[in-house]
Amino acid sequence: MFVTIEGPEGSGKSSVTKKVTEMLEKEGYCVVLTREPGGTPISEQIRNVILDKANTKMDGMTEALLYAAARRQHLVEKVWPLSNEGKIVISDRFLDSSLAYQGGARGLGIDNILSLNHFATDGYYPDLTLLFDIEPEIGLARIAANASREVNRLDLEKIEFHRSVRQTFLGLAKRFPDRFVVLDASKPFDEVVLNAYKTIKDRLSKCK
Ligand code: TYD
Repeated sequence: MFVTIEGPEGSGKSSVTKKVTEMLEKEGYCVVLTREPGGTPISEQIRNVILDKANTKMDGMTEALLYAAARRQHLVEKVWPLSNEGKIVISDRFLDSSLAYQGGARGLGIDNILSLNHFATDGYYPDLTLLFDIEPEIGLARIAANASREVNRLDLEKIEFHRSVRQTFLGLAKRFPDRFVVLDASKPFDEVVLNAYKTIKDRLSKCK
């Protein structure tokens, strides 16, 4: 089973997912938590280029191609082999981030980014996508309050960019209702953890 975790900046998705992974592991499930861009040494190198604050001249299409390249390598080296072993793979961000950030907010077009990614992923889609929905104002304020989180090149975009990311994510949830579940990420941490945990468990039992 391949689960992806999506959402705007500061939605708390990474900490919630870490906690949910621990809960599933304690119950004996074989779960692997990974992330994009990154997850393998080559993809982490690509990540450094994409997120480097010094790369102010990066073209939007270059950005989209680099995310897709990092994704391809991550699938080939990690996601596909682990899935074939029967593991539950949970990825902190995947394809829908490219659709929301590059397709929507950067204005490159969702269908263009979808076809670019179709090539990169051989048309591989997640079984389940949890969307941690939050208003960008709240998400960005959380980031600002968290001194240990490093600010990256995309965090520095204007508020309109982040609003567009959120709206595109919500549109994607409507377009792909079979795999998307929207969670209210403005709720208290423990509540979001429980909702995310229940959603994944529900799909796991349906798969058996
Ligand atoms: P990261 O530090 O992992 O942020 P977060 O904790 O919010 O996940 O940085 C990833 C950044 O890359 C984030 O701003 C979202 C962006 N991104 C894209 O624009 N397109 C993509 O395809 C992916 C995977 C991420």
